Amino acid sequence: SRVEWDAEETAKSGYDHYMLKEIHEQPRALRKCLRGRVDELTGAVDVEALDGLNPSSVQFVACGTSYHAALHGASALREAGVHAQAFLASEYATAPAPVTDDTLVVGITQSGETADTLSALREARKRGVETLAMTNVVGSTAARECDRALFIRAGPEIGVAATKTFSSQVVAANLLSASLAPQSDAREVVEALRDLPGQVQEVLDSSRAERVAEQFLDSEGYFFVGRGYHHPVALEGALKLKEITYKHAEGFPAGELKHGPLALVTEETPVFALVTGNGTEATKTVGNVKEVEARDAPVVTVTDGVSDVERYADAVLEIPETHPRVAPVLANVQLQLVAYHVAKKLGRSIDKPRNLAKSVTVE
Ligand code: G6P
Repeated sequence: SRVEWDAEETAKSGYDHYMLKEIHEQPRALRKCLRGRVDELTGAVDVEALDGLNPSSVQFVACGTSYHAALHGASALREAGVHAQAFLASEYATAPAPVTDDTLVVGITQSGETADTLSALREARKRGVETLAMTNVVGSTAARECDRALFIRAGPEIGVAATKTFSSQVVAANLLSASLAPQSDAREVVEALRDLPGQVQEVLDSSRAERVAEQFLDSEGYFFVGRGYHHPVALEGALKLKEITYKHAEGFPAGELKHGPLALVTEETPVFALVTGNGTEATKTVGNVKEVEARDAPVVTVTDGVSDVERYADAVLEIPETHPRVAPVLANVQLQLVAYHVAKKLGRSIDKPRNLAKSVTVE
């Protein structure tokens, strides 16, 4: 058999839903992902699956939540000076991006069985490109078919909506980036990754997401905005909400709001704004938040409290301060909890939403 999780790991152990249990398993999952992969003294990343890799460009292929992790990974690599792009696996074969002998194609797939992702990886191999599977399942098709496999070690995920595996994928993507470009700011990122499990625990212990869910339960639609590293999490926050609540939700890069979506923003549509630090991106997003506020839309900010965004907010979800590369994981935990509590209050089938499957094996 392919999956070798033990019974204790797959029981709900007191939680109402697997999804909530899996959200709470994140500190442990992230510790496992990091274990033995970072040198305690030097902070250098040492991952066997990545030994000897030195690609001139990296192409990520993935679907759904894994695609959001791929967007993060591609930004991290580009920031570290490596050419990198993220593709939706189902679109990869259309107008394929150029590859060279030393391109690496990374398939991010929790299950390792998603047909679209397997097909994109096969396409890459047909073009003679080296492939890496970043997956949760040892022995999965992706792990077996790719040249290399980087396991995210999140443990079994039963809830159809991916939660802990997204966080683990983002951590693994940063290990990949730190390993391919150790001369970049890898050291600071790795330090922040080490603190991340404890900070996720802090968010879990103090989150006001249930109250926010109650406050905005009857809203007509929900928008999520963030810039830079918060952009994938804006997409992920919206995806999680639509998957398990069946409410309309959209995520946008904050700067795109004014190029269309703003027409949909009313007092019936809360806007969740992800703002951390007080750099240029944060300042610009605060500007976008003001535009939203001027249209009387309720604003919920997910913030570390460094900028003055809270001034414009109807509700605040706090996260601890950390490196900008790592903050989105903490912000996302808050959004996971919001989606969960909205779905629960609406009486939805949280672990098995209608029309969706944990792993989609058709194209
Ligand atoms: C399905 C699931 C999603 C998941 C996507 C990709 O659509 O419902 O939660 O993100 O597949 O799955 P994978 O196993 O490839 O990460």
